[in-house]
Amino acid sequence: MQSRLMALEEGKNPTTTLRTNQSRTLPLRLLQWFSLFLVLGFGVSIVSMYMIRYFKVANVAWIGQSPLRPCFEELRTIENWIRPPSNLLHIMNDTELLWRASFVPRIKSYPYERVPKIAFMFLTKGPLPMAPLWERFFKGHEGLYSIYVHTLPSYNDSFSPASVFYKRQIPSQVAEWGRMSMCDAERRLLANALLDISNEWFVLLSEACIPLHNFSIVYRYISRSRYSFMGSFDEIGPYGRGRYNQNMAPTVNLSDWRKGSQWFEINRELAVKIVEDTTYHPLFKEFCQPACYVDEHYFQTMLSIQTPHLLANRSLTYVDWSRGGAHPATFGKADIKEEFFQKIFEGKTCLYNNQPSSLCFLFARKLAPSALDPLLELSPKVLGF
Ligand SMILES: *[C@@H]1O[C@H](CO)[C@@H](O)[C@H](O)[C@H]1NC(C)=O
Ligand SMILES: *[C@@H]1O[C@H](CO)[C@@H](O)[C@H](O)[C@H]1NC(C)=O
Ligand SMILES: *[C@@H]1O[C@H](CO)[C@@H](O)[C@H](O)[C@H]1NC(C)=O
Ligand SMILES: *[C@@H]1O[C@H](CO)[C@@H](O)[C@H](O)[C@H]1NC(C)=O
Ligand SMILES: *[C@@H]1O[C@H](CO)[C@@H](O)[C@H](O)[C@H]1NC(C)=O
Repeated sequence: MQSRLMALEEGKNPTTTLRTNQSRTLPLRLLQWFSLFLVLGFGVSIVSMYMIRYFKVANVAWIGQSPLRPCFEELRTIENWIRPPSNLLHIMNDTELLWRASFVPRIKSYPYERVPKIAFMFLTKGPLPMAPLWERFFKGHEGLYSIYVHTLPSYNDSFSPASVFYKRQIPSQVAEWGRMSMCDAERRLLANALLDISNEWFVLLSEACIPLHNFSIVYRYISRSRYSFMGSFDEIGPYGRGRYNQNMAPTVNLSDWRKGSQWFEINRELAVKIVEDTTYHPLFKEFCQPACYVDEHYFQTMLSIQTPHLLANRSLTYVDWSRGGAHPATFGKADIKEEFFQKIFEGKTCLYNNQPSSLCFLFARKLAPSALDPLLELSPKVLGF
């Protein structure tokens, strides 16, 4: 018992001594470890800095050749910035979308070979009955156009992967005829199309529109025009100036008030003006409500104030108002004959780049779904595609 106690007591002593020794050496050890880690860490950083330099050089060589992408962020090339979004769906709301779409390069010359495209923007409730005719129109001209479709939000299109309309629906909202929601849908189309930096011209179309000429002619006509085709005129009378509201002054005076077709073709500069607008939008929203049809006045008036020298003041889309009423004539199966097109092509002259021209319309409306079959039959002969 005593010896055990002794042993314990003896045992106690060395432990205590050890502890005292340890507590003396511990800070020293820690310092040694710390220095070791410091040196190691420093070494590793230097090595990795050299490695990264090496790998980044290698990385540049991989881009465009290998489908393998390194997990760390790749070096950006100009292609990263100019490549159009691979998917048109996004979850930006309109505020975010318009803001993003308003980005404009300040240096005007492109440091790469830019092939400018025409954005064809379809505003429809849902189906596109003229799609087979458009498919034929676009065939063989890949790289010179892009397509955007705005529908009711509940509508899902069913185009096959082979179609030019496949996955071209943009996030949409309800658009009501003659109301600001219609202009908002048009701005949404423009904003989505602006996200592709290659889009230079923007054409607004409906499901009842058809092309009147082949793609080569349409592309040449639009790309060589000095002006954008926004219909815009000063109309005396109840359906023109009569829709003006005095509360818009002095931002919009009566003499600035314009009317024109909803169906426009504009260039990139004007498209940006439309998406970035915060001056005219609230005014038109409040003071242009039915019987003021805002889609006939808002962009027309705003652009006539801001950039009158860039407007042709006429629309490229043929329409027949001769039957009277609030809506233009709709043409069906029985109307589609060669004479129908002769009537559109002949007997009209207009100004193109300040010169008289007999080619005034590139598109026509309104065509009923029943017109499709005779159109497909006549188009090689009459429309040139
Ligand atoms: C979009 O989201 C932003 C941020 O949440 C918000 O400030 C803005 O009001 C939203 N805009 C619309 C049109 O809902
Ligand atoms: C459309 O598609 C989405 C997602 O695929 C689905 O959730 C929705 O129910 C569909 N709507 C209709 C009207 O078919
Ligand atoms: C409208 O008229 C006022 C007063 O004459 C003028 O100050 C203003 O600049 C005009 N607005 C436009 C858009 O020309
Ligand atoms: C279009 O109309 C504006 C006035 O609103 C005018 O300044 C411009 O010169 C016209 N454009 C053409 C091509 O005539
Ligand atoms: C387009 O139409 C014009 C005139 O009709 C014709 O000369 C030209 O060859 C056509 N282009 C194509 C690619 O079919």
